[in-house]
This record gives sequence, C-alpha cells and structure tokens, in this order.
Amino acid sequence: MARLSDKEINEIRSKANIVEVIARYIPLTKKGKSHVCTCPFHDDHDPSMSISEDKQIYKCFVCGAGGNVFTFIQKFEQISFIEAVCKVADFVGMQIDHSFSLPEKKVDPHKEALYKVCKDMIEFTHYQLQTIEAKPMKEYLIKRGVHEDIMQRFEIGYNPKKDNVYQFLHAKKHLDEHILEAGVARMSSIGMKDVFTHRITIPIHDAQGNPVGFTARRIEDNEEAKYINTQDTLIYHKGQLIFNYHRAKAIAKKENRIYIVEGAMDVLAFEKVGLSNSVAMLGTACTKEQLILLKQLSVPIVLCYDGDKAGRNATYKFGKLASEHRVAFEVVKNTYELDPDEIIDMYGKDELRNVVNSTISWLDFLFVYLNEKYNLDNYSQRKEFALEMAQHIETLQEDFEKHSYYIRLAQLTGFDMKQEVSTPVKKESSHYTKRTFLKMPKAGQYVAEQEIISQMLNGIAASNYFKNELGFFKNDLCNKLAMYIVDYYRHHASMDIANLLDKIKEEPVKQLLLDISNWELALEDVRMDVLEDAVRKVKACLLDDKIQSLNEEIKQMADPIAKAALADKKNKLILNRRSLLHKEGNDNEPK
Ligand code: UTP
Ligand code: MN
Repeated sequence: MARLSDKEINEIRSKANIVEVIARYIPLTKKGKSHVCTCPFHDDHDPSMSISEDKQIYKCFVCGAGGNVFTFIQKFEQISFIEAVCKVADFVGMQIDHSFSLPEKKVDPHKEALYKVCKDMIEFTHYQLQTIEAKPMKEYLIKRGVHEDIMQRFEIGYNPKKDNVYQFLHAKKHLDEHILEAGVARMSSIGMKDVFTHRITIPIHDAQGNPVGFTARRIEDNEEAKYINTQDTLIYHKGQLIFNYHRAKAIAKKENRIYIVEGAMDVLAFEKVGLSNSVAMLGTACTKEQLILLKQLSVPIVLCYDGDKAGRNATYKFGKLASEHRVAFEVVKNTYELDPDEIIDMYGKDELRNVVNSTISWLDFLFVYLNEKYNLDNYSQRKEFALEMAQHIETLQEDFEKHSYYIRLAQLTGFDMKQEVSTPVKKESSHYTKRTFLKMPKAGQYVAEQEIISQMLNGIAASNYFKNELGFFKNDLCNKLAMYIVDYYRHHASMDIANLLDKIKEEPVKQLLLDISNWELALEDVRMDVLEDAVRKVKACLLDDKIQSLNEEIKQMADPIAKAALADKKNKLILNRRSLLHKEGNDNEPK
C-alpha cells in the first residue's frame, strides 16, 4: 500500500501556518509574539493555550496538551494522523491522493449496516412519492413550492400508510435489529411498525454525507406532531447533526456565508430562491458541537430564524451560546413576523432574497430584544438592562465597536458603562517569559540539562558541543530528547520543532520538548556563553555525584591506605569541580 512520504508530510506542514489553522477552529488573540486562546482540550475559561507562529507549535499550560498543526487537528476532530495531514493539505490547497487517508479510516460494520438501512429507505420512499397513492402528497409539496428538482436533490419521499417501509427493508434482507436500531421501525404488539407512517420524509445526513435519519412532516392538519425526527441512534446524534450541512458546506465557502434557519422546510425555501447555502438545527437548541461544525466552515454565519417571538427567543438563545464560545455571527433583519417560507408565499422570492441580504449585528439585535424584555422606565430594570448589555459589549473583539455600543447604551440608559482599558493586573504565567535557568540558585542539574537542550534547539553547534562535552544526560527524559535532537541534525541542517515533534514517539518526551521551547522568543542563535555555563554546571553536578559516592566508600573503608587513596581521589575531584566553577565567572554554585 502506498503511503505519504515524510517529505510530503513535511511539505504540507511547512505550507500551513498553525496560527491560521487553529483560528479556523477557535478565536485567537495576539499576545506578544504568540497567540493565545481558550484550550479546547479541557474546560477552560481563561486563555491557557499558547501558539507560537515562529515555531509552529501550540501548548496548553494548564492541561499540558501540545503539539504541531497535525496533532491539533487530530485531537480536535478525533481523527487519525493521516486524515489530519490530508485536512491540512486541503487547507493549503495542496493536491494529494486522498486514498491515503482511507487505509487508516476505520470502517465500522455496525454503522455501515445502519447507513445502508437509511439508504434503502430513502430509495424506497423517494420512489413511493411517484406512485398514484402518493399523488396528494406530491401535490401538497408542489403547492408549497417544492418542485420536482428540489424533491430529487433532497431525495424527499413518502412513507406509505401500511408498514411498507419495514416490509421493503425486510425483503432487502436487512436484519430486524438493524431496522430497529436505525429508528425507522419499532416493535409493537402486532409486529413491526413503521415510525414515519403516512408522512413526507426528508433524509438527514451527517457532515460526511452518510444518511443517518429523517425528519418527517404530517400531511393532514391533525393532532399529531407536525414533525417527527429520528430518535438518537448509533449514527444519529441530534446535538451533533446539522440538516443540509454536507451539501451546503462547499457552497457556503464559495458564497462566503452560511445561513442558519429553523427547520428543514426553511432550508427548502432558501433552495427555492436559489440559495443553497442554508442549514437547520431541526428544532433542537444549538449545541457546542454544532457551533464547532459551523465555525469550521470559516465563513460568516448569518442567522435567519423566524420573525416571530419564538424565532427571536431562539435567536437570543443561539447568540448567547455563540458568544460564549466566541463564534461571530450576524442576524438577518427580518421585520416580518414570518418564517422564510411564508415570506416567499406572501411577498415573493425576491423579497426573501432582499431580506436575507440585510443583516444587523448581534448587539443591534440585543438592543431591540432586551429593550422589550426590560422596562426601561423603571430604574432597577434599566440598570439590569445596562448591566446585561455591557456584558455583551465586552465580548466584542473590535475596540471601535465596543466604543460605539457603549455610547448608544449611555444614550439609552444614562449609564456610562464603558470599562476602562485595564492594564492586565493578572500576573503573567512564568511560562510566557524566558527562563533564566542558571540564575536559579538551587535549580540543579535537571534545569541545566534543559537549558542545554534549549540551546541545542537553537542550532547544530550546540548539539555538537553537547555530543563532545557530555554525550548524555542524567535525567532520562532529557537524555531521550537529546538523542532525538542529535539524530535530527544528522538529517537536517537546521531545527524545525514542529517537524521534530512528529519524530518523537514517547508522549512525555514530546511534552518536555514543548516545555523547553521558548514561547515568547523568536528562534535565536546558539548562545555559546549560556551553553558553556550550563555544560559546566552539569559536569560539576556529575562530579558532585562522584564525590558523594566516594564519601560513602571512604566511610565504609576499613583499610587506612585504601582510605587515603580514596580521599586523594576525592580531593582531585573537588579541585576539578572548583576550577570548573571558576571559569563560570560568577557565583552561582551548583548544589
Ligand atoms: P414550525 O412550526 O415553525 O414549522 O417549527 P415550520 O418549519 O414552519 O414547518 P411548516 O412550514 O409548517 O411545514 C419550526 C421547527 O421546529 C421543529 C421542526 O424542525 C420545524 O421546522 N418542529 C416543529 C418539530 O421538530 N416538531 C414539531 O412538531 C414542530
Ligand atoms: Mn413554515
């Protein structure tokens, strides 16, 4: 089986910028030479993750997660290394043979069986819509402006009245347990029953385009629920699915925006007016997972919920979650109390296109929405309004936006809520500043070894110096890392930490490498003075160890002549040690 070569993988990584890639997933803030963000790998509230553009690596100083652009995507999307490589290749526009990503992709036969159930049901119900029995359903759809082309594209179908879907799937040799597990039939006292009996069926797919379930509308105006959706199954997790995402994602990128609407029928309404870049959450409140899917498109998000009260409440709920996760979005200025479908019905297709083209900001929306919620004629409510608005204004990224909204808030309430631009009082984490190992009085050998590694990362000269002067470290992790570095320079003239990370197999060694990389600083040249100091320090520590064990030996020794010989040896070592430390030219003696 062919594989991507190290050279190709390297080329892909060197074309990608880790800062741009991570920014596709989470918002970043520039801080000194690095970028910071809240860590997606633990429950983080302050930005604890730092990304070094210079070294193309990231590291969370709280949970310890760290690595290069590939490990980030691998961990974030929970995919294999090679899939992450293919993703990055896509981001940087590099053509690679995607079949490479296939061998590692685990095909889950259980899931495959359920996809197949859904797929066969889609074919069957879609065909049923063409039958004479289904004539009224088809007419219903046509009356709603869902024409043949849209029926085809969305594979809309009809689940007949009897239990035809189950019978068909059974005849297609699907196991009963799979049919049940896919959620399209259920067991009753008289046998298997279709779940979506006598409903129009609209298939739902996951982000990869696998068919996973259905949303099904009743046809008659009766007491039954207007829509029934597939209940959660092995392949259908409603909080992680977005209706029409798999089709809309490419078009959203082309059009540079994605519309979010309330229901599948609204997606169809957008489709009717030629907008194929809309998606729906299908009646569930938006979840964090869904937000991440939206964010990954890296296009502006435009919220287009119904213009009625329920729609405005849903907009508020979405907005709160989105701003909590720092996902930016705009809101369509829908002044009609209508949903998209009804706008087409009453005012025509052009009007829907007009409506979705004019948007307001989340803050603009809140000024109106919260103004209705609070009674501004009442002092304590006005104060609460001002407090809530100020809290939202603070989440804005741009200073000019904050500034304008604070003015507007002051005009409306009389409260000047503008927060002074506070100089960060919070103490900077020591990780962000350059370590000065040798100044630490009792820091000892381990710290000196790390300083040497730090210099080895700066250039091959330090690595060679280490090889000649020491050749090994006492600390096992430092030693392993040093061996990786020495080996790296056998094949590369200069250091690329992001690349080196891929070579290291042991997780703790990777962690050490990430810890040692200086975050705030650009790659620098080898500092020979610092290096020499550190090597001397390590040598002195090694001598200390020897002196210590000689002391033990001397204590145990009964023979006075041998004892004297050992003492002599010890004194030589002490002299050695002293001369080593004299060269250091300062007084930070190792302990
Ligand atoms: P609506 O009642 O606004 O439905 O519910 P709609 O989209 O306008 O549908 P039509 O035009 O009457 O056909 C909004 C969304 O809430 C979910 C659906 O996703 C729907 O699109 N919903 C509604 C359900 O899941 N079940 C229901 O019984 C009703
Ligand atoms: Mn509607």
